Amino acid sequence: MSTTTERLLAATAVAGLLGLGAAAWAQPATAPYGFGQPATRDDLARFFSSMPDGSDLPAGSGSAERGKAVYDAQCMACHGANLEGGIGDRLIGGRGTLAGNDPTRAPVKTVESHWPHATTLFDYIKRAMPLTAPESLSDDDVYAVTAYILSRANIVPGDATLDAKSLAAVRMPNRDGFIPDPRPESFPPAASAPHQTKAIAPAQ
Ligand code: HEC
Repeated sequence: MSTTTERLLAATAVAGLLGLGAAAWAQPATAPYGFGQPATRDDLARFFSSMPDGSDLPAGSGSAERGKAVYDAQCMACHGANLEGGIGDRLIGGRGTLAGNDPTRAPVKTVESHWPHATTLFDYIKRAMPLTAPESLSDDDVYAVTAYILSRANIVPGDATLDAKSLAAVRMPNRDGFIPDPRPESFPPAASAPHQTKAIAPAQ
């Protein structure tokens, strides 16, 4: 590329940027700095996880039966025909293997044996799976494949259909297996500056 062409391209790029900037400044001031716009609830929705109590799960529903079709097409290649794992984690089995300190008996951590909330399973699948195309499944399909995994784990019946309400009502086998950390937070007392600032850079 000749130097002249390079200069021309650079100039065009700068002009483009300025044009964009001017357009942004021309918009009505809807944010403190005069550009951009306040994020709506919908804009932010994809960055928030559902709470364990399921209070903000999306609408929709799906049956375990439909979930098998979703699983076979989207998940089986990595998690195995019987959810036994492969490239991806094993998803079922292992109940009762988490208790005890016997080093010769390693715990088998799965959704069935370990996870305390079914709502978290929905949220994880919705955001992170399939590994190669996260966020590609519809909410109905996520409900369905969640129902299928829970049914294969004998946590819900094989003919279950799950929605926000019924999913939140599912009781996971290891629900009470987590111990809350009783130690108090021990940050320096909050003063005029946020305590994080103090913790990172204590007073000299
Ligand atoms: C390309 C391979 C691949 C595909 C396809 C895939 N997964 Fe996964 N999955 C993984 C891997 C790898 C992990 C472990 C990720 C990690 O630990 O960060 C995982 C983790 C998970 C977990 C968490 C397991 C645990 O106990 O921590 C769940 C649940 C899950 N996948 C469900 C699904 C579902 C449902 C589908 C289909 C919609 C799916 N996966 C498709 C590879 C895959």
